[in-house]
Amino acid sequence: MAEADGTGGGTFQTLTADVIAALRQAKSVFVLTGSGTSAESGLPTFRGVGGLWRTHRVEELASPEGFARDPVLVWTWYNERKAAHERAQPNAGHDALAQLERSLRDFTLATQNVDSLHQRAGSRNVVELHGSLREARCTRCDARRLFDATGLPLDEIDHSCGGRWRPDIVWFGESLPPAAWHQAQEAAARADVILVVGTSAVVYPAAALATHYNDRAFVVEINPDRTAISERVDCVLTGTAAGVLPHLLTN
Ligand code: APR
Repeated sequence: MAEADGTGGGTFQTLTADVIAALRQAKSVFVLTGSGTSAESGLPTFRGVGGLWRTHRVEELASPEGFARDPVLVWTWYNERKAAHERAQPNAGHDALAQLERSLRDFTLATQNVDSLHQRAGSRNVVELHGSLREARCTRCDARRLFDATGLPLDEIDHSCGGRWRPDIVWFGESLPPAAWHQAQEAAARADVILVVGTSAVVYPAAALATHYNDRAFVVEINPDRTAISERVDCVLTGTAAGVLPHLLTN
């Protein structure tokens, strides 16, 4: 595994050139992103500094059990996050991935993020593995409703059918949306280059897309820190999404 930090040194330039060459030759590129991709847009990661929300761990809030225990607390968290998403702007990393997609014929970006920043940056073929914070859905019937930056009013959590409105995202212990999962799996399996950006790669099954479905792809990790998969990828570009990804563009 080759490794270089993204401070512009010679090794970084050599490795970046290798990645650019691999991207140029690739028939198919797959990208897996996580919350670190949005860190430079001002959104906190889940497990980093500031990853706790008012002393609650994410697993306490993002789970059916947590929601059943205290739906107002859980919706307060999501409403704050939704407002932060709306205030945030895509960063140079999001922009670079959108630009990369425009230069390639077969490009799939699977994200664990629910902030819609990839779409706002112009990415088109985005697979949302963990859903999004654009809609709420009922826990009992098929009803859906959009919600905006003001969030879901806390006195409207109960739905008229007897269920409750919940965010349209995947919680711990729940299955990924089957269509999204299959699309991501197939794209990872046929990729010649896989970029893994800003994820600790500890939450499955999403993390498996980085290394489990393809033993022939050139896998590149972009992250300021070591992760669970750093030893298993072909190349680590140590640095932030906004700092490293623009270097992978050639035009
Ligand atoms: N650029 C790139 N990576 C960064 C940056 C940055 N500016 N800042 C931090 N990171 C890296 C961290 O080093 C870490 O490896 O982003 C990663 C964030 O990891 P997590 O907080 O675990 O977030 P993520 O991998 O997206 O979590 C996966 O867990 O709670 C669930 O559903 C939630 O989708 C989320 C899933």
